[in-house]
Amino acid sequence: MPILEHIMKLDLEKLAMDYIVPCLVEQGFFYLDSFLGDVVGQCVLDQVKEMHCSGLLHDGQLAGRRTGVSKTHIRGDKIAWVSGTEKGCESISFLLSMIDRLVVLCARGLEKNNIKERSKAMVACYPGNGTGYVKHVDNPNADGRCVTCIYYLNKNWDAKENGGVLKIFPEGKSYVADVEPIFDRLLFFWSDRRNPHEVQPAYATRYAITVWYFDVEERAQAKKRFRDLTASSQERSFAS
Ligand code: OGA
Ligand code: MN
Repeated sequence: MPILEHIMKLDLEKLAMDYIVPCLVEQGFFYLDSFLGDVVGQCVLDQVKEMHCSGLLHDGQLAGRRTGVSKTHIRGDKIAWVSGTEKGCESISFLLSMIDRLVVLCARGLEKNNIKERSKAMVACYPGNGTGYVKHVDNPNADGRCVTCIYYLNKNWDAKENGGVLKIFPEGKSYVADVEPIFDRLLFFWSDRRNPHEVQPAYATRYAITVWYFDVEERAQAKKRFRDLTASSQERSFAS
């Protein structure tokens, strides 16, 4: 193995086992700064800005509620789903591969879960018009998502002026965690009811990339439930 690769592996392993896993287990979330470094982080930011400028980001949806009513009072972000193989997403793809490596290393220490897959990446922009995302739980009903991972991209973010702070309200704890969405910061938290959270109104353009890692068992059960549901509604429509 090339020496640099070796050092990086050791560092990631240490990061995973000594910091991320214990923090996730004990307090339910963890974040670290300077994940990719200035140069590579800037490349990711440039690609996200390019997507935004080209009009590729669209209104975020709310699960199960497609009423056509404006949702900006609930969630005001513009998003796009990215696999990483798209043209112009090479740096985002590199970011995803680094996060994947880290999560694979963490997974060894997280015995309660079997983490093997993840969602596509959600590139999100709060345009800075005072919208945020009201308090919610990412996965309240066992849809399979186990860990939420967010990479923030905002240089010179001044939370006093620009808002946009992520507030986490850990279930059963008396404290609230404020996470500022600063450039090159990587955040992990449990996606289920342990971590209700909200994005406070943002008054400057706020970029982030989110991926959700799945628990194999929970995901399989959720897919099965969905299949059963679809099958039974088809049976009903055949019957009528
Ligand atoms: C979400 C979310 C938090 C953030 O998209 O579900 O909670 O800090 N985002 O962007
Ligand atoms: Mn969320």
